[in-house]
Amino acid sequence: MGTFTKVVLTATLVVFLAVRWTAPRFDAESLRGARVLVTGASTGIGEQMAYHYARFGAQIVITARREKVLQQVAEKCLSLGAQKALYIAADMASESDPDKAVDFALENLGGLDYLVLNHIGPSPFSMWDGDVEHTRWLMKVNFFSYVQMAWRALASLEQSKGSLLIVSSLLGKMPSPFVAPYTSTKFALNGFFGALYHELAMNNSNVSISICTLGLIDTESAMDKVRGVTNVPAYPATDAALNIIITGATRQPELFYPWFTQIVTLSKDWFPSATNYIIQNSYNYNP
Ligand SMILES: NC(=O)c1ccc[n+]([C@@H]2O[C@H](COP(=O)([O-])OP(=O)(O)OC[C@H]3O[C@@H](n4cnc5c(N)ncnc54)[C@H](OP(=O)(O)O)[C@@H]3O)[C@@H](O)[C@H]2O)c1
Repeated sequence: MGTFTKVVLTATLVVFLAVRWTAPRFDAESLRGARVLVTGASTGIGEQMAYHYARFGAQIVITARREKVLQQVAEKCLSLGAQKALYIAADMASESDPDKAVDFALENLGGLDYLVLNHIGPSPFSMWDGDVEHTRWLMKVNFFSYVQMAWRALASLEQSKGSLLIVSSLLGKMPSPFVAPYTSTKFALNGFFGALYHELAMNNSNVSISICTLGLIDTESAMDKVRGVTNVPAYPATDAALNIIITGATRQPELFYPWFTQIVTLSKDWFPSATNYIIQNSYNYNP
């Protein structure tokens, strides 16, 4: 191993350990009675976040499109200990539903302490085939509705010294094949909320923003896409959900889950050719 590589690896390890040791301590009690809106909570990571918030005794509003499923999730939240568990069906591709969901939460909870933006519209796992209309629609669901909801909730979060949690992806930092429209929406989120993070800090705002970068998580929708296509390990949705919640509660600006996604992100800039080679050869693909 060359001296340069040794220095880079040591520096990476030191930074990683320093970040871990200096991370603020999570106080579960701080979430008792907290007023939370979680989007995309009918299934997957959003559903798991709803259950964790419920166990912590939070007051929750959940949203997604399927009302019947939301009702079942809300009932389970109450049985797990949520002080309140309400739901509202909303389609984030619509012009008005993002506002409607935030207004519902503000009215029924009397304000918000956490806005957790997590939903994504379904998108194919395939090579780009020129479907511009789908990309436009996905931008609406995965990006514009986030911007709209964040703006709608900002005054209440300011008042409550609240937090905005953005669930993003490693694919929002590192483009990969088969997901061009999805990757674009996640890059857009990182750009917009990264800029907003600075603006809020420069205005001494009370609102914290946490951008959560996730690797592959074992939700049904994700596993259906990658089964037999890649051997990248998938991590448990319930653990990802808990890590997102802790990141928001401790007001940390970033989460990398699992931890090595941070190293992968760095490797893209430090060793671009090697990283591109690994990416292109980590799928079972025959043209
Ligand atoms: N799973 C992974 O491997 C992975 C990796 C990196 C990042 N992430 C991120 O983690 C978050 C959650 O992912 P996930 O795997 O848990 O997703 P998921 O299981 O597919 O769940 C998506 C959620 O969004 C809702 N939704 C879909 N279209 C909608 C629309 N038009 N309007 C409103 N809600 C809509 C779905 O409910 P309805 O169908 O009822 O509307 C569902 O509740 C996403 O932001 C994703 O990018 C996931």
